[in-house]
Amino acid sequence: MVDMISSRGNDDATAVSVLGPFYIEGAPFIKNGGDLIRDNAGQQTLVKGCISSTTGEPVSGALLDVWQNAKNGKYSNEDPDQDDDNLRARLNADDDGTYSFSTIRPSPYTVPEDGPAGVMLEAMGRHPWRPAHIHFKISAEGYQDLITEIYPDDDEYIDADAVFGVRESLAVAFKPTTSEEEARQYGLQSSVPDSGVRFPSAPPLAPA
Ligand SMILES: [Fe+2]
Repeated sequence: MVDMISSRGNDDATAVSVLGPFYIEGAPFIKNGGDLIRDNAGQQTLVKGCISSTTGEPVSGALLDVWQNAKNGKYSNEDPDQDDDNLRARLNADDDGTYSFSTIRPSPYTVPEDGPAGVMLEAMGRHPWRPAHIHFKISAEGYQDLITEIYPDDDEYIDADAVFGVRESLAVAFKPTTSEEEARQYGLQSSVPDSGVRFPSAPPLAPA
């Protein structure tokens, strides 16, 4: 609710969503087009889009800070089996605002149920699940920061997020690729079980 109130008046910008408790400052830089998959299991996924202003101009060199969980539903800072930097990176968009990176499809996960939040969820008859998502913090000189998330629109919890982070405009299709060339360019396997490469058609992310 605080996020929604504080972003009022930015109707032409991409919707905001929650920062969440798993963000870590200072993620390593990768090149635009770089790889977050490394040795992670999961559906190989290419994320790409364009950072533009609310009036449609590309935001040259915008800084993207991205983070997500692994196939087991855990973020690196709650899982001793993951490197601290696993599935976290910063990258700069190109001069024309475009960016891309390869990763794995994120997993749904539960918020902690062992404290007051768990008691409250139970009292309200709500489950503790969040739909899968990739977090973004996007910044550029002269623009307000944008903190948001994108969600696969076919996630089973898309309509019942425990923390109410989903906005309709942030639910995007993760599509199997039809481009062998693109899969080759990003070094993606197109024959992993249960999928193939999936391309989210990300909405333009527009800092206001
Ligand atoms: Fe999250």
